[in-house]
Amino acid sequence: MYDPVRYETNKSAAARDAEQFVPMLVNHMTWKKNELILDYGCGAGSTGNKFVLPEVEKFDSKIHSVDISPDMIAHAKKTYPSPRVTFNVGDILQDNFPHKEVKFDKIFAVYVLHFVRNYREALKRCYDLLQPGGYFGFTVLSKSTLYVLHEKLGTSEKWSKYMKGYENYIPEWFEQKEDSEVAFRRNLTQLGYEIVELKPYRQEYDFESVNTVAELYLSLNPYVKVIPKELLNDVKQEYTDFLRKHWNVPEGTDALCTNYELLYGVVRKPLQ
Ligand SMILES: C[S@@+](CC[C@H](N)C(=O)[O-])C[C@H]1O[C@@H](n2cnc3c(N)ncnc32)[C@H](O)[C@@H]1O
Repeated sequence: MYDPVRYETNKSAAARDAEQFVPMLVNHMTWKKNELILDYGCGAGSTGNKFVLPEVEKFDSKIHSVDISPDMIAHAKKTYPSPRVTFNVGDILQDNFPHKEVKFDKIFAVYVLHFVRNYREALKRCYDLLQPGGYFGFTVLSKSTLYVLHEKLGTSEKWSKYMKGYENYIPEWFEQKEDSEVAFRRNLTQLGYEIVELKPYRQEYDFESVNTVAELYLSLNPYVKVIPKELLNDVKQEYTDFLRKHWNVPEGTDALCTNYELLYGVVRKPLQ
């Protein structure tokens, strides 16, 4: 997310999940002609392009893709230009969100909400941005060693000075040791959404090497731009050492079998 090329090169597990779950999100929604879709946290643009755009073309509709990261938007704009898609920098919770006055028929947030500390506020904002009857589909990385590592480095003597506010990059449910499905169900219901489907999936993924995961985690560490360049190899080494130990990678081997939890959700703003 903070390094689009590094993320796109090493996101094989997320790409596999997108292939598995985004078509499910699309199929869980009813589509009509001339709709307006928000791809919230579109990242480097590949998910929206591969799995949402074909349906949008079929229904003569349009996508507004928005991401908080200028690097991601620059990459997406260059790689996936389409007359049906606009790309803009913005944070759904801030004034720089470019479509404040627009009402959307559908919102997608694929692997985004775990990066939004105040995810409840984001759920509320999406509710406000939806037309009555509009759908909101999301996948969330609900349990991951990524959070364990952010927490470990953010509280360590060596790295805490560079990672001030690291808690903002750890989901609230993880920090409070709350089950994500329970937390989401409560918040979504309180906000007025109808739940079409909300289900956790235990995912496994065999990475070809520990290095791939270390690279992936580096691309997702918001502090790589603050940590002095000459120390970046040390961060990567910390990741590598932790991952080998945590996932019991035997000496002399490099393949890494991981598991994590994904929360899948399709919800709807009631027709009024
Ligand atoms: C893991 S990437 C997923 C990208 C894309 N949805 C995909 O499936 O490839 C998460 C993205 O969410 C973006 N993001 C995080 N917080 C955001 C916010 N508050 N508003 C908009 N985008 C945000 C990040 O910049 C990042 O590009």
